[in-house]
Amino acid sequence: MTALLEVEDLRVAYGKIEAVKGISFSVEAGQVVTLIGTNGAGKTTTLRTLSGLLKPASGKVVFDGKPLSGVPAHKIVALGLAHSPEGRHIFPRLTIAENLQLGAFLRKDKAGIERDIQRAYDLFPILGERRKQAAGTLSGGEQQMLAMGRALMSQPKLLMLDEPSMGLSPIMMQKIMATISELKSTGTTILLVEQNAQAALSLADQGHVMEVGNIVLSGSGQDLLHDESVRKAYLGED
Ligand SMILES: Nc1ncnc2c1ncn2[C@@H]1O[C@H](COP(=O)(O)OP(=O)(O)O)[C@@H](O)[C@H]1O
Ligand SMILES: [Mg+2]
Repeated sequence: MTALLEVEDLRVAYGKIEAVKGISFSVEAGQVVTLIGTNGAGKTTTLRTLSGLLKPASGKVVFDGKPLSGVPAHKIVALGLAHSPEGRHIFPRLTIAENLQLGAFLRKDKAGIERDIQRAYDLFPILGERRKQAAGTLSGGEQQMLAMGRALMSQPKLLMLDEPSMGLSPIMMQKIMATISELKSTGTTILLVEQNAQAALSLADQGHVMEVGNIVLSGSGQDLLHDESVRKAYLGED
């Protein structure tokens, strides 16, 4: 069986600076796969390339059996690849409900959209309570919930989350991680980018450690959690 997402020898450059230097990994349907690594490792560049926002210098990406080379970003969303970006990028002046509606911009099935908005409110009750308020009034953690809810509105086969816990209080971070765990248990396939290696590896089936544009170590979440070099470099142990 081929994986839902296959990335082969992907290279991405900003001008002459190569930010991703030939990485390969795959994501099987139903899995949570995480990319961890320090600031500047190339994680965001990788996700933006998979979404079609950046053009790779070389390499191959196959999603759900289709090569993504040259496919524009909106078509990639339509194929089932959703991206909750680093920094959330919600629309602060629009209401929470309107932000969720925007996540369904390619869909025409009104009843289905309503059902999925309700599902987002079930997943994140605070969004339902405040559905008519401007999204800019939400806290950072709540905005993260909205960004995830919005990404889910395209009914993705694969949900990519870029640093969902960034800048959040420990309690809010736990909440976000618990939701990712809940999504996983309902069969959502997730590619999770995190600087919080402990949290990400704890719930990931597979993990890859990125350093300056390369994957330097791969393994199951549990193996990486217990790997001595990972513990030293990313889990704050000496
Ligand atoms: N728009 C850009 N123009 C030039 N260089 C960039 C740009 N975005 C990121 N980079 C560089 O690419 C490298 C990888 O960045 P990034 O993918 O954001 O890493 P991460 O998400 O792992 O922190 C870094 O050296 C960063 O400075
Ligand atoms: Mg990043």
